[in-house]
Amino acid sequence: MAPSGSADLVIVANRLPVDRVTLPDGSTEWRRSPGGLVSAIEPVMRANDGTWIGWPGGTETDLEPFEDEGLDLVPITLTQQEVEDFYEGFANATLWPLYHDVVAKPEFHREWWDAYVAVNRRFAEEAAAVAAKDATVWVHDYQLQLVPQMLRELRPDLRIGFYLHIPFPPAELFQQLPWRRQLLEGLLGADLVGFQLAGAAQNFVRLVRQRVGHKTHRDLVYLPDGRTVRAAAFPISIDAQGFEDLARSEEVSQRAKEIREAVGNPRRIFLGVDRLDYTKGIYARLRAYSELVVEGELNVEDAVFIQVATPSREQVEQYRILRDDIDRLVGRVNGDLGKIGRPVIHYLHSSYPPEEMAAFYRAADIMAVTPLRDGMNLVAKEYVACRFDNDGALVLSEFAGAAEELRQAWLVNPHDINGMKSAFLEAYRADDKEVTRRMKAMRKTVKQNDVAAWAESFLTELEAGRPSHGKSVRPPNRS
Ligand code: G6P
Repeated sequence: MAPSGSADLVIVANRLPVDRVTLPDGSTEWRRSPGGLVSAIEPVMRANDGTWIGWPGGTETDLEPFEDEGLDLVPITLTQQEVEDFYEGFANATLWPLYHDVVAKPEFHREWWDAYVAVNRRFAEEAAAVAAKDATVWVHDYQLQLVPQMLRELRPDLRIGFYLHIPFPPAELFQQLPWRRQLLEGLLGADLVGFQLAGAAQNFVRLVRQRVGHKTHRDLVYLPDGRTVRAAAFPISIDAQGFEDLARSEEVSQRAKEIREAVGNPRRIFLGVDRLDYTKGIYARLRAYSELVVEGELNVEDAVFIQVATPSREQVEQYRILRDDIDRLVGRVNGDLGKIGRPVIHYLHSSYPPEEMAAFYRAADIMAVTPLRDGMNLVAKEYVACRFDNDGALVLSEFAGAAEELRQAWLVNPHDINGMKSAFLEAYRADDKEVTRRMKAMRKTVKQNDVAAWAESFLTELEAGRPSHGKSVRPPNRS
């Protein structure tokens, strides 16, 4: 296939940064897409004038490439059947639970796999069509693991990077997949395969050696055709300065005050912010908190829990079950333990713009981020970035990637309810000096390793391996 496109940097991700949403009156509007992936990649795109290929969320077939706030977007169309089999099925009911420690049982269906192959091919063909000669293509996340190999076959001139935003499972779990070899070979189409943590990169290299039989040495895989593929960790981050600026703004300060007042100005506000996903440990977290209220360690005059749960993947059965479970738990806890005007838990099943999130972060004294497994968890970093007064306590799961960097958080095992209760109480009772000492250290880490540094290190590494340093891609501006 001859190069025909003009884009020097192509981002390929399942989602576009905006979603096309159909309103009750039949009209449509564009909304920002959920999740950490989109917010991390957007600054890279802006710095490079890149082209972004992705799915805009629905099943419309009439979409042409378009520009949105200065970004060149190329929509990929999925049929209703593909949404069910590729997105809800293979991506989110097979790979997602399998890669997250099987905290829910993954389902294996051959027709889902067929849809995964077909949709990956569509993304690869589109990338091949828009990329200029010798361009850089950066493919993202578990929905698109076959794209690197498919794209290489179409366009061997390209420099291809792949980044996995979620955990990569240990061999013992990955091996369950009937299509394990195809996925590994799909990823090996890339020149550089990036993961959140070093352990994930090691899992991958070990699996390639065992299952595909290629020679490996440390983080390198040697392919029979002479190519080498590198697998390494690039822990993702956030636009730390952007969040801090938002948190410092007059509007957000004012809004944070309003939030505190609206919940009755208690001594301490606990906060949870998650996509409503069973990997996030929301149920166990709220149970732990409510037990502290039952036991009288906390009371509803002094403390309140605000849980923001962003609607997510609502057609997938496990997500529906989770929603019902949380609804029931919150109802029971508030019914049993709340008082007039003083619920134990304020539960918000909704998504909010970054300004409102920054206000929640500023209003909260204790942030509870307790996933059962999480690739990184950007909410933890956003909270830290917003605490410019060096106060605020973070209770963080050991099983979030962020725990490798944010060592000064109150680290917890989210399966251990008593351990979580102790950590909540310690964070609640900690003196200001202790809280400040911890927050200061975490802020330093988050500020140094922001999303610009992440993109810079990935792209620099990807370009460094080019045979002829022909082209180069700029990282986003450091602020
Ligand atoms: C996680 C994944 C992303 C995904 C996001 C939102 O952050 O790593 O790939 O886009 O969740 O999930 P959704 O299914 O709504 O795209």
